[in-house]
Amino acid sequence: MERIIIQGKKRLAGSVDINGAKNASVAILASALSSRASCVVENLPYIEDVLCVVDGLKSLGAKCQFLSRHTLMIDSSNITDYMAIHESLKKIRASYYFVGALLGRFKKAEVILPGGCNFGSRPIDLHQKGFEALGAKVSIEHGLFKAHADKLTGAHIYLDTASVGATINIMLAAVYAEGVTIIENAAKEPHVVDTAGFLNSMGARIRGAGTYIIRVTGVKALRGSTYAIIPDQIEAGTYMIASAITGGDITVRNIIPQHMDSLSAKLKEMRCEVIEGDDYIRIVGSGKLSGTNIKTTPYPGFPTDLQPQMTALLCVADNSSMLTEGIWENRFQYVDELRRFGANISVKGRTAFIEGNIALTGAEVSATDLRAGVALVIAGLAAEGVTTINDVKYIDRGYENIESKLGALGADIKRVTVKS
Ligand code: EPU
Repeated sequence: MERIIIQGKKRLAGSVDINGAKNASVAILASALSSRASCVVENLPYIEDVLCVVDGLKSLGAKCQFLSRHTLMIDSSNITDYMAIHESLKKIRASYYFVGALLGRFKKAEVILPGGCNFGSRPIDLHQKGFEALGAKVSIEHGLFKAHADKLTGAHIYLDTASVGATINIMLAAVYAEGVTIIENAAKEPHVVDTAGFLNSMGARIRGAGTYIIRVTGVKALRGSTYAIIPDQIEAGTYMIASAITGGDITVRNIIPQHMDSLSAKLKEMRCEVIEGDDYIRIVGSGKLSGTNIKTTPYPGFPTDLQPQMTALLCVADNSSMLTEGIWENRFQYVDELRRFGANISVKGRTAFIEGNIALTGAEVSATDLRAGVALVIAGLAAEGVTTINDVKYIDRGYENIESKLGALGADIKRVTVKS
């Protein structure tokens, strides 16, 4: 087992380059199955979730070759199999994108049911509803998500919730449906826009991604493409919060600052200095932070994937705060771990009441999922003494080289391997 060990209370300063977006990468890699030609995807983060998708692509017969650490060539011309059942696909949420891509291309898909972080129930009814509206028969049998159709036909689909996964999955199937598909109340997240951008670069006709109505006109075939993934909004936000909690001065580079607007606004409210450039944001922590109230909502609202990191930050603000989770039913499991640092947080339903002005003290803690795990790193950076974080594998799912990036900013952080 690997652990991260942090000697806290170091002020972080300097610049950090942000990698490509995890949630765009996993969707875009699965989308490469939609084309019979080869694609080159650049700016891929080298993280566990991406490697799991690559395993899934290879298991179907796609040729995948890393041209460099962050550039992958995918040739899925020879794929004839519509069954994606590789064990790696069970570990991640994004395996459901294989359903949309294979259904579009082969009119048939059988994919192992997705895993991923556990925040309570994670339904896929909207994905099913979308595929059925396009004319597919959908079932869940023997742990497989199955869909097949004689033919896919464009349809008008209203999503009851603006689901990222359902929006992307329906786009993937609709690319090959006859006629026009309208997705209403579509998710507007940057990774939805990026996936549409990739599909369009291969010849798809998708309009409106980034708004709440997406229009997909079906095409007969997609060509190959070379495409660069957008920067990771959540990795960027995590380093911005790391600067704030250490009273630091970090410039987060290679980002799209507009993607960070909701976080930047909250950090300003908390009395951090936020300086924006074309592709960077510099966060200067004031050392004196005000508490604030936050509710996570779909983009452009405050992202749920920065909620645990923000909770850690709010513990050290001068006064109390309230944080309401608006997306997932149970995303506060990590609060018990934060309490080991001395945090005083009570959770009622979907709202956490966070007492401020806490002098966090280092503790031995365990990551329970990806963002929960990184929130413990954030707390450890601000805590007096030594913090040991177990189950680092969760953090590796979404953060490349976290200890070397934080180390370069002045953190005292190391990874050790212990016999489990
Ligand atoms: N929902 C339904 N039915 C569905 C699908 C979703 O009711 O068929 C509900 C969910 O229960 C939830 C809401 O819709 O309340 C939003 O879920 P969404 O489908 O948008 O989430 P997702 O696609 O499964 C992606 C990210 C998550 C991120 C959410 C919300 C990927 C691979 N995962 O999940 O990222 O939290 O969107 O923004 O893109 C992470 O990176 O740590 C992570 C968990």
